[in-house]
Amino acid sequence: MKKKIICVVGTRPEAIKMAPVIQRLRQESWADIQVLATAQHRQMMDQVLTLFGITPDRDLNIMQPNQTLSSLTAKLISELDTVFQQERPDAVLAQGDTTTVMSVALSCFYHHIPFGHVEAGLRTGDIWNPFPEEMNRVVASRLAKWHFAPTGSAKANLLREGIPESDIIVTGNTVIDALLDTVKKNPQPPADQDTSGRRMILVTSHRRENFGQPFEEICRAILHLVRHNPDVDILYPVHPNPNVKDKAYELLGQHPQIRLCEPLEYLPFVNAMQQAYLILSDSGGVQEEAPALAKPVLVLRSETERPEAVTEGVVKLVGTDFDTIVREAQQLLDDPQYYRQIARGVSPYGDGLASDRIARTLKNSLLS
Ligand code: UD1
Ligand code: UDP
Repeated sequence: MKKKIICVVGTRPEAIKMAPVIQRLRQESWADIQVLATAQHRQMMDQVLTLFGITPDRDLNIMQPNQTLSSLTAKLISELDTVFQQERPDAVLAQGDTTTVMSVALSCFYHHIPFGHVEAGLRTGDIWNPFPEEMNRVVASRLAKWHFAPTGSAKANLLREGIPESDIIVTGNTVIDALLDTVKKNPQPPADQDTSGRRMILVTSHRRENFGQPFEEICRAILHLVRHNPDVDILYPVHPNPNVKDKAYELLGQHPQIRLCEPLEYLPFVNAMQQAYLILSDSGGVQEEAPALAKPVLVLRSETERPEAVTEGVVKLVGTDFDTIVREAQQLLDDPQYYRQIARGVSPYGDGLASDRIARTLKNSLLS
């Protein structure tokens, strides 16, 4: 009898990071893999699943415009209950720290289904930063059977919380599997030298704790940078969350050096990272991918659960303060030697084989 494993995806980053796991597990003859989409993100999740050729077996179609955390959680718990009741899987996998993941972990607990947490053990230690992700992942860790930690420091965080060492598997981050696979599909020339003489800064931002005044500071810093650097263009694929989108278009929509656009599909976004001179972002995934592509990232957050690239000196935390963002970005624009120190092509988050390690662990565990 095959073992039934349900792989859950809800948002864009979960789809990117679970795609290699789903593809790898589908090669296993002992496993019956089903994909459950909560569609916490509708368009952005679909974009990714289409690229990776994954069609969900079930789709809960949860997303509502400008959804609240409470309504999202309530709907997820209720819908997941029905699915797990009907399917009775041998294991469930989900990735990261979204509300989908926290709800999946809790629902598995209610149904006594073993839950595997992909990208386990990331922590800032501050439950309000990032909000609500830090608490989502703490809850997921408390409930998981398998903890697929991307790095040694994520494993150390889990050990500190009393997770038994035998339940933690250091795998690398599956985002590097997805990234390497994508880069292979569409090789680009190294683009840190822009032959047109213009330099592109790629921007993404979506964190709830940055809504309001911090996000406005980020926008003011972007405007200052283009006004003082006529050779610099901004490419900013805007997150569809109305709290971000409306403000971004209001504050940045008119400047000729700033191009705002819809979220890019993953392949063009990887190309954009390759072509960027510099990246300004509060994204988790981008902090992991950009160092592997030798691109400096200024992280628009005061803390990060991904300290490895900061320690390596290839990513810098700049927060949302206008002066700090402008100073750090200007130094990277003005000082080629400093730029080369940061754009070194270090990949502390994985070697592209994370999904393989996850598949092997599940086989050993579920077939023993
Ligand atoms: C969510 C996750 C966050 C993750 C981020 C990745 C939670 C609470 N937040 O934040 O951890 O880092 O995704 O992007 O789990 N929307 C669309 N189309 C889409 C996606 C979103 O229109 O394809 C709009 C909708 O109005 C939706 C809103 O964005 O209600 C917010 O989506 P939600 O998933 O609640 O929060 P994010 O800010 O996207
Ligand atoms: N990404 C994308 N298109 C975009 C912006 C980002 O495909 O327009 C990818 C990016 O490469 C990364 C992931 O989306 O893999 C990050 O998603 P997001 O920033 O929404 O979430 P986070 O990683 O912060 O949870």
